[in-house]
Amino acid sequence: AEEKTKLPRHHGRYSEDMVVFKGMLAYMPQVRSMKVRDDDLIIATWIKCGTTWAQSIILHILNDADVSKVSSGGKTIDKLFPMIEQINLSLLFAEPETIEVEDIEEMPSPRFLKTHIPLRYLCDDIKNRLKRPKIIYVSRNPKDALTSLYHFDMKGFYVPGVTDDDYSAAPLSHLLQEFYNDDCVFGSYWKHNLEFWNRRNDENVLFIFYEDMIKDHAGQVKKIADFLDKKLTDEQIQQIVEKTSFLKMRSDTFSNYSHIKAIQSPTATPFQRKGVVGDWKNHFTVAQSEEFDKVYQEKFAGTGLQHIFEI
Ligand code: A3P
Repeated sequence: AEEKTKLPRHHGRYSEDMVVFKGMLAYMPQVRSMKVRDDDLIIATWIKCGTTWAQSIILHILNDADVSKVSSGGKTIDKLFPMIEQINLSLLFAEPETIEVEDIEEMPSPRFLKTHIPLRYLCDDIKNRLKRPKIIYVSRNPKDALTSLYHFDMKGFYVPGVTDDDYSAAPLSHLLQEFYNDDCVFGSYWKHNLEFWNRRNDENVLFIFYEDMIKDHAGQVKKIADFLDKKLTDEQIQQIVEKTSFLKMRSDTFSNYSHIKAIQSPTATPFQRKGVVGDWKNHFTVAQSEEFDKVYQEKFAGTGLQHIFEI
């Protein structure tokens, strides 16, 4: 067998082909058996591919461009739209109360759920198409996703008490090696994308791209609204574009994760870090980029799945 990467302390191996944040290991059996409802709305992504942005857009669409209707009492985006698999929340969150899988089971419909778990390890109800919740999958070019992950995971976000110090100072090449070994958190980027790409024509699935959201924010808001059967006026679409802009989301406690301990750390990168296509060019060497392109071509050859790497 191929030699596996030495995982950072806060990552744990769930299976031969999937690594998660350690705190998630305990949740995995419940994730797999969770009862799904036809009226659930699920956002699925590989980590750092634009999840939070899409979540905010969805919540704005369904609340007529005004999330204050649902965010009163300091309800932040992760409370309205919790992650099925959770994280080691007591380490991450400044406040003690957290959402457990049981709470998700009890949430009233319609539920909004986020997940990074690959389809093959998700709830049987979804995997086996026993239920048809609406699923929005956001895909992002892997060079930018990795650049984002590098800053999020390796360079500060999890540092307080969690990250292996040596590892947090690791160069990008270390993360790339982990990526090539399919040992990044949530496992193989390729499989993750292709599993959902192969369902893109299912009537309950919408497969979209981060790069399209950057190129045509309003157009993608409209596309998501159509998928959710929500009619919006042009004015409402414009309001949503403004309210879910990078700078607005970065300054808004609803979406900037400022209630998370690790984000408050002086070494942490803001959650809304850069929000562009092509920042990988500031981090990949030419040689790293060329090697990466070869792997990308091989992995997605013949699948029809193709990303934009620069605008
Ligand atoms: P960068 O680190 O490249 O800036 P996720 O929510 O899946 O963790 O993805 C996080 C990435 O989405 C980060 O990428 C973040 O900046 C970007 N992002 C979040 N909100 C955004 C917005 N409104 N516009 C553009 N990018 C956004």
